[in-house]
Amino acid sequence: MSVFFMDHPLIQHKLSLLRDKNTGSKDFREIIAEVAMLMCYEATRDLPLKEVEIETPISVAKTKVLSGRKLAFVPILRAGIGMEAGVRRLIPAAKIGHIGLYRDPETLKPQSYYSKLPKDIAQREVIILDPMLATGGTAVDAITKIKEFGPRNLKFMCIIASPDGIENLTKAHPDVSIYCAAKDERLNEKGYIVPGLGDAGDRIFGTK
Ligand code: URA
Repeated sequence: MSVFFMDHPLIQHKLSLLRDKNTGSKDFREIIAEVAMLMCYEATRDLPLKEVEIETPISVAKTKVLSGRKLAFVPILRAGIGMEAGVRRLIPAAKIGHIGLYRDPETLKPQSYYSKLPKDIAQREVIILDPMLATGGTAVDAITKIKEFGPRNLKFMCIIASPDGIENLTKAHPDVSIYCAAKDERLNEKGYIVPGLGDAGDRIFGTK
């Protein structure tokens, strides 16, 4: 298990803007996408390269291109969609899946109310997107569901994580690396991250 904290000054500066309750929905939505794009840059640092020869206007250059490991992003509905816009800008060729889950109150088993994943997900490296890793319940369930399709490798990218969320996720899926910009103090009695940034979905979509 690995947890990567992204302490790049641009990410930390933009995270402060996201935390600010006076940041309005339009700015919040744009900044979530920007932070996701910057985080994606770090989270894809291990993508393999191969050497190729390219003709420049002057001569032949031995240079490098990505060597075929294909990517898919899977935002968890609904707040993950805010991050999707940013990562798509960085890697436009990646496929995008979506997953929405709830927990059956009787069986407590994860039920997906929406799931549309790329057909060839088994050949892809998957990065799951959700801005807030709170209790970790949804993340654990989403990863369990996605694993049924046998992707090559899974990463989980969030903006703020709680200590409980990190613990629960790493316990359930020790093979999944977590990428986040901050680990906050705790969860409150309603399951919100403290100090956090509030309800990410409401702030992205202006629903409150
Ligand atoms: N989801 C959110 O949007 N915010 C939190 O603080 C926790 C879960």
